[in-house]
Amino acid sequence: MKDLALKQAGYAQDADFVLRVRNQKDVRMNSWNQNIIPKARHWRWFKDHYYEYQIIIYKDKEVGFVRVSDGDVSIALLPGYRNRGIGTSVLKLLGGGDLFASVRFSNKSSLCCFQNAGFCNVGYMLRREE
Ligand SMILES: CC(C)(COP(=O)(O)OP(=O)(O)OC[C@H]1O[C@@H](n2cnc3c(N)ncnc32)[C@H](O)[C@@H]1OP(=O)(O)O)[C@@H](O)C(=O)NCCC(=O)NCCS
Repeated sequence: MKDLALKQAGYAQDADFVLRVRNQKDVRMNSWNQNIIPKARHWRWFKDHYYEYQIIIYKDKEVGFVRVSDGDVSIALLPGYRNRGIGTSVLKLLGGGDLFASVRFSNKSSLCCFQNAGFCNVGYMLRREE
């Protein structure tokens, strides 16, 4: 896709942007932890995880992030940038190694996006939520 790039995240420069994307209501609703993450906690946690993140740049703007943690992929875009093929293109850019994702069954656009990028459904994840 034209005008699309990934930038390796840094700690201090990207912590707030990642939190802003992560704390959007619809992103939280599609996450396993649906709570708002407080800034101070995020900054403590992000110090040990920022290297797992790449910032998605589209037309010179930061529009979301993709995270790969031990092969587990998560991705989120700001609302105005969804359903234009950006997510699928980003997933296709991810390099080597086995990758997997756990996606809520209700999250049709995410399921579709991962499948369009070559991920296959290999089973069910069963979860009991409090
Ligand atoms: C999930 C997400 C990253 C996908 O990125 P995206 O750029 O919007 O995805 P794409 O445009 O590449 O692909 C979306 C696909 O879902 C399809 N789709 C969207 N809504 C749908 C619905 N309700 N039912 C079925 N398919 C749907 C689109 O048609 C498109 O498929 P197509 O290209 O074959 O037409 C983005 O929507 C997002 O940030 N969502 C909020 C955060 C989130 O849920 N993250 C995933 C957690 S695992």
